[in-house]
Amino acid sequence: MKVALASDHGGMNIRKEIASLLEELKIEYVDFGCECASSVDYPDYALPVAEKVASGEFDRGILICGTGIGMSIAANKVKGVRCALVHDTFSAKATRAHNDSNILAMGERVIGPGLARDIAQIWLTGEFEGGRHANRVGKITDYEEKHQ
Ligand code: RB5
Repeated sequence: MKVALASDHGGMNIRKEIASLLEELKIEYVDFGCECASSVDYPDYALPVAEKVASGEFDRGILICGTGIGMSIAANKVKGVRCALVHDTFSAKATRAHNDSNILAMGERVIGPGLARDIAQIWLTGEFEGGRHANRVGKITDYEEKHQ
């Protein structure tokens, strides 16, 4: 698995925590920043990561901002992306099992580094259940195909 990782200025600490988790899990990743001392715009980080996941260059993406909301809104504009905004471990497991989410968004002003790490680990290792859930995800994909 290859992961694209990015944050804005509001998510830099958790991004570094997730980078160290990916190293521990021996998961290949590229950190796309930001290396920001001042404020940056979250779409400038969310959209390139989302495009890299949608194109297949990366298998998964992890995006962090202050709330996770801006990153998730922007990432979900890219066709083929299913970005889940997650702040609890139950949803981390459920969104892999049911939604086959390919990008995880979290908010550094919402949760601490320990929980963010647990969420990311559960999400990275969780499997899609397929079956009726594949049918549901397929309806989203069909919609995207018809409304490009
Ligand atoms: C930046 O202040 C903040 O708006 C951003 O990190 C994020 O929370 C946006 O959704």
